[in-house]
Amino acid sequence: MDRRTFLRQLAMAGLTLPTLARASGMAGMSNMSLSAAKGISLLPADRLVSGAALRDIPKLANLSAQTGRFVATLTAAPVAVPLIAGERPTTFWAYNDSLPGPLIEVFEGDEVEITFVNRLKQPSTIHWHGLPIPPEQDGNPWDLVKPGGKRTYRFRLPEGSAGTYWYHPHPHHYTAEQAFRGLAGPLVVRSRHDPLAGVPERLLVISDLKLDEYAAIAPSDANDVMNGREGQFALVNAQRQPRLAFHGGGRERWRVWNACSARYLRLTLPGSALTLVGTDGGLLEAPQAGLTEYLLAPGQRAELVVEAGSRRDRVDLIAAIYGRGKMGNVAPEQAMPLLTVDFGAVTESAPPALPTKLADIADLGEAKAQKQVVFSENMSMEGGQHRMEFLVNGKTFGMNRVDLTSRVDEVELWELVNRSDMDHPFHLHGTQFQVIEREIDGKVTSASYRAWQDTVNLRSGETVRIKTVQHWRGLRMFHCHILEHEAAGMMGMLKVV
Ligand code: C2O
Ligand code: CU
Ligand code: CU
Repeated sequence: MDRRTFLRQLAMAGLTLPTLARASGMAGMSNMSLSAAKGISLLPADRLVSGAALRDIPKLANLSAQTGRFVATLTAAPVAVPLIAGERPTTFWAYNDSLPGPLIEVFEGDEVEITFVNRLKQPSTIHWHGLPIPPEQDGNPWDLVKPGGKRTYRFRLPEGSAGTYWYHPHPHHYTAEQAFRGLAGPLVVRSRHDPLAGVPERLLVISDLKLDEYAAIAPSDANDVMNGREGQFALVNAQRQPRLAFHGGGRERWRVWNACSARYLRLTLPGSALTLVGTDGGLLEAPQAGLTEYLLAPGQRAELVVEAGSRRDRVDLIAAIYGRGKMGNVAPEQAMPLLTVDFGAVTESAPPALPTKLADIADLGEAKAQKQVVFSENMSMEGGQHRMEFLVNGKTFGMNRVDLTSRVDEVELWELVNRSDMDHPFHLHGTQFQVIEREIDGKVTSASYRAWQDTVNLRSGETVRIKTVQHWRGLRMFHCHILEHEAAGMMGMLKVV
């Protein structure tokens, strides 16, 4: 069925504001049926306090006194947080009662040992998004930790892995719900030779929140399931539009996480240019200065240097309007202020120049094999029900099916093709890849600088070519990082032999 007919029929069936209760939960999601149900009302956005001072994310304490070892426990459990005066507290699911999850700060070369305790009523895992670690330690969907259970993840962080990572659950069918209820946290791998070590750092974890009129976390509706869930709030370090008092020295290094299920963050700071210095897997070779905006797709991270220059005013960091091809009768896109930057305390207009060289990123070399990954969507009518499928190479995810096979340590060229009408952020586990070029409408554009990434956005109709290599044998996942699409089966399995 073509898209237009499908969407027209959906609208006629009254599916403009339906609820698909607990949608991202249960089985059957790979063949999602979009049934009409009563809509729910959301809490007006201004009921949640804004303008408070930006808080730092608490660090996960290291229980080991030994240098080079990081030992800790992360417990996932429900936690009630009083968000709105006069309303009942909101029940989140959180790691160690912290929203976002506590900051894991580790160094290259560290031996990490983190015990995960699952106090949820669902199975879960912890996936270390972006880290180059063995597959059996990476919280894959078949390595479930049962409710009430625990397990210890152990890995060593290789030299050269300094970068901006995160952790979140990865049980099949439950990832989206566990993440939007609060289970996600930042992880920073530091280098002892960081060329930007002197620049004051800020960690900004951006997450999405959808609350119903009673301030409870709202279930996903059919639009959320189809387009990826977006709530009325985009929070920074779990705060609504906090105030960031800019460092007096006039320069800050921001590490920014897009931990939203589906919201695209087209970051702009009106009147100030941004300098990109790092992506998911660490620093660029050289700073990319003068950016008026930077698009952070769900799952991605960026390191941005921000300079006050002569400004002493206040300005909002904004997620500007970005059209990602949502389907159905969705509200028009709106710009969303994320936080207010207050330059009032800046005393220094001209901090010393940034280093012109940040890192070495070698070309991965000649590709010995090629792969193609095609993202597509399929709309159909079955037994009077509208069905929407999100496919990888024509299939929805199969837990017992290997989709692609690679050889360990062999460089490959992957062609990532988006044959659907929506943007999809492609993510591959266990490694950092390099984008080589993009092609859209027959026009090929080479990447203008090298960068380490584990997630790359595919626009509708776009093909992105990447070079990638896996360093451990075993099974890895690749999927769309719009978590509702991943839940619906837009995921595949790579076997490394
Ligand atoms: Cu961020 Cu497969 O995950
Ligand atoms: Cu991942
Ligand atoms: Cu997607």
